[in-house]
Amino acid sequence: MIATLAPYLLALPLVAATPSPKSLSSSFSLLYQNDLNWTSATEHAGAILLEPRSGQAAVQSCAALSESLLSANGLHFFSDIASLLAYLSFQGRYPAEQEYWIAPASANTCTTITGGAKVKNSSCQRVLPVLCSQSAPYRVASLQDQDPRWRLSVGAEDLTVTGYRDHLSFRFLGIPYANTPKRFTYSTLYNGTQKSLNATDYGSRCVQIGTPGSEDCLFLNIFTPFIPGPETGAASLKPVMFFIHGGAFVGGSGNDAIYDGGNLASRGDVVVVNINYRLSSLGFLALSDGVTNGNFGIGDITVALSWVQKYISAFGGDPTRITIVGQSSGAAATRALLASPKAINKFSAAIPMSNLAGENYATSYSVYYTIAELQPIVIDPLLVATGCNMTDSAAVLSCLRSVDPNTLVDLPTAASFIVVDGTYVTSKQLPVDGSSPVAYVPIVTGIMRDDGSAFTGYPRTANVTREIAAVLSSPSAPEVQSSGLFPVPSGANATLDIFNVTARLSTDIGFRCLDQAHAISASDHNVFPNIWFYQFDRSYQTPAFNPNPPVCDAPITSTHPHGDPSQEYFKCHTGELHFVWGTLGQYQLPFRDANDLSFSQLVADSWTAFAHNHDPNPLSAYLSVRGYMNTLDVVENTDRWEPLTKRHDRALRIMNLPPRMTTFQEESQCKFLGLPSDYYD
Ligand SMILES: *[C@@H]1O[C@H](CO)[C@@H](O)[C@H](O)[C@H]1NC(C)=O
Ligand SMILES: *[C@@H]1O[C@H](CO)[C@@H](O)[C@H](O)[C@H]1NC(C)=O
Ligand SMILES: *[C@@H]1O[C@H](CO)[C@@H](O)[C@H](O)[C@H]1NC(C)=O
Ligand SMILES: *[C@@H]1O[C@H](CO)[C@@H](O)[C@H](O)[C@H]1NC(C)=O
Ligand SMILES: *[C@@H]1O[C@H](CO)[C@@H](O)[C@H](O)[C@H]1NC(C)=O
Ligand SMILES: *[C@@H]1O[C@H](CO)[C@@H](O)[C@H](O)[C@H]1NC(C)=O
Ligand SMILES: *[C@@H]1O[C@H](CO)[C@@H](O)[C@H](O)[C@H]1NC(C)=O
Ligand SMILES: *[C@@H]1O[C@H](CO)[C@@H](O)[C@H](O)[C@H]1NC(C)=O
Repeated sequence: MIATLAPYLLALPLVAATPSPKSLSSSFSLLYQNDLNWTSATEHAGAILLEPRSGQAAVQSCAALSESLLSANGLHFFSDIASLLAYLSFQGRYPAEQEYWIAPASANTCTTITGGAKVKNSSCQRVLPVLCSQSAPYRVASLQDQDPRWRLSVGAEDLTVTGYRDHLSFRFLGIPYANTPKRFTYSTLYNGTQKSLNATDYGSRCVQIGTPGSEDCLFLNIFTPFIPGPETGAASLKPVMFFIHGGAFVGGSGNDAIYDGGNLASRGDVVVVNINYRLSSLGFLALSDGVTNGNFGIGDITVALSWVQKYISAFGGDPTRITIVGQSSGAAATRALLASPKAINKFSAAIPMSNLAGENYATSYSVYYTIAELQPIVIDPLLVATGCNMTDSAAVLSCLRSVDPNTLVDLPTAASFIVVDGTYVTSKQLPVDGSSPVAYVPIVTGIMRDDGSAFTGYPRTANVTREIAAVLSSPSAPEVQSSGLFPVPSGANATLDIFNVTARLSTDIGFRCLDQAHAISASDHNVFPNIWFYQFDRSYQTPAFNPNPPVCDAPITSTHPHGDPSQEYFKCHTGELHFVWGTLGQYQLPFRDANDLSFSQLVADSWTAFAHNHDPNPLSAYLSVRGYMNTLDVVENTDRWEPLTKRHDRALRIMNLPPRMTTFQEESQCKFLGLPSDYYD
């Protein structure tokens, strides 16, 4: 049969037109058995699944993807394909006994593999689903591969979007979701005349200090395991995880490789969307002119959500199952969206991670300024610094619009605060007491055990009183010391002993006390159908953000040259990100011990379980079918992660290996600190 196909193959143009679901009359599924062990990622071959056709058409269709039929060889071929095909049948896409076309075992035959991974000879006339090879390579960091062989085009409403694939997923990068906004106005949904989008590389980051950016930065990135075909029904669509990056509202980008969605897409069968939104004064400046009301960055995020609702089904995402996920300032944005009249109904679940709430630096992320409050602390200094303090408000705006954007974000005073603008944000804080409407969606939220330790300086003296006073003014340092609630450990290193106390205070006043109190109040007032609360007791600090080194790193020992996570160290802000995204490999970061990999699997499986089922406990049947045995072992041998139930059940999930249930931490310390006493009666 191959012989009869040869003339057709020779007749193919050298570079075929970019394939699309329409051109091949098929959905595209990128199947990859991802155990998140990046050191052996290239030993596992993926496959592209196409919808049923004859043996001859199967060869042609794979060729149109610059591939051939999948060869039944490779180190992990049989175990990987068995899990991948079992999952197809688990999802109801094909029966367990289905046969699929693969590469012929010998000349002049057609060959199939069964759902049970048995290879068979077959008549070429049969109409069967197709497994093509998948040759696009594994990438590290943000390097993109512009080889035209990996490209594919997707028709989405009025747009044609050309992206590509890599070893892990289909990728569509740098999609403009909004029109390039006029400075200090709200963005609008993209409706540019360019309907044919080249989405093979990231778009610009938004203007920020220290790294190049542009005001033309409203791009999003999509990572998906599945592109629907012309005949695909809505039931096949995957849940969407929509990520809002952190960076104190002055930095960061959805382009950062730590948030690369390919691992979650393949491991967790979800569609990941990462976005850029405007930052610093370009994203958040409000003026008292009644028009320039701030929150442009929040407005951008709501426009990105509208884009996702409108277009994501063409990329395999289910617009009715969007989970918004945000970390740090991204968590603050997530909470603002939970109560925003512009955003409620645009998502169905939320994961605010490490939300800042409480004293000092943490306050403004959860208690928003009014524009009047911002006047003396941000608006006046900014107008003076730019020379734009004019009486006529139109002149002020036009003056501010003429300032170089990099100059604007480099000024000593930047507007980097959510404000009560009356449209996007209508209350001083997320109303966790039921006093006004909030999106009634399930929540996973929590903190790093030592979240605040990144935000307090390392002690420069051995004077505990002075160092405590530098963290908080009330209660006074002597009161804190005499309370007995924050004892100074007596280790070998005096400054480290003091840091133990200041880091603990900083975490309690900047994260733990109010995040726990908000969860209890929301639970008591039935604000959300469910809240699952966590605390990470295992972390892997991101190299790019590693304050007070080496306190956030697992100690290096002779047996653990990359650090021993079983020893004590501070579990700092951002230390969960590599685990949530499964992206240690994007930075070629080593597994420090055998548990790092299992933990990475557990976290990814829990977060994606929440996106699928609105419950972060992965289902045993799913884990077993997918061959996720480490997570299955954890799930079967530990208590379930219980949500907070009504009336002060302070259920807390300790995220470690193994995970365990306990209750909220530091409650007497929080009460002593007055954060806030009324929730703890
Ligand atoms: C990752 O895979 C490599 C190669 O198969 C193996 O040697 C290593 O033990 C694995 N790492 C972990 C943490 O299991
Ligand atoms: C398939 O057919 C070829 C050629 O007739 C034969 O050599 C091979 O053993 C057969 N394989 C199977 C799995 O039956
Ligand atoms: C694009 O949208 C903007 C804002 O919604 C609107 O003002 C403009 O007329 C639209 N342009 C086109 C070409 O539809
Ligand atoms: C798409 O953009 C990439 C990266 O900028 C470029 O290499 C490629 O040639 C572009 N493709 C088309 C079809 O314009
Ligand atoms: C801005 O200009 C007005 C009018 O000239 C003046 O009253 C005000 O003090 C100025 N504001 C600042 C912060 O300098
Ligand atoms: C420690 O700092 C406190 C507050 O600054 C100061 O009152 C006290 O004298 C200092 N103690 C010593 C031993 O320097
Ligand atoms: C105390 O610990 C800190 C943080 O790990 C370290 O930088 C410092 O060198 C240590 N000091 C001594 C005397 O060991
Ligand atoms: C802080 O001190 C307490 C009490 O000695 C100890 O249990 C804890 O492990 C210390 N924390 C860190 C991160 O070293």
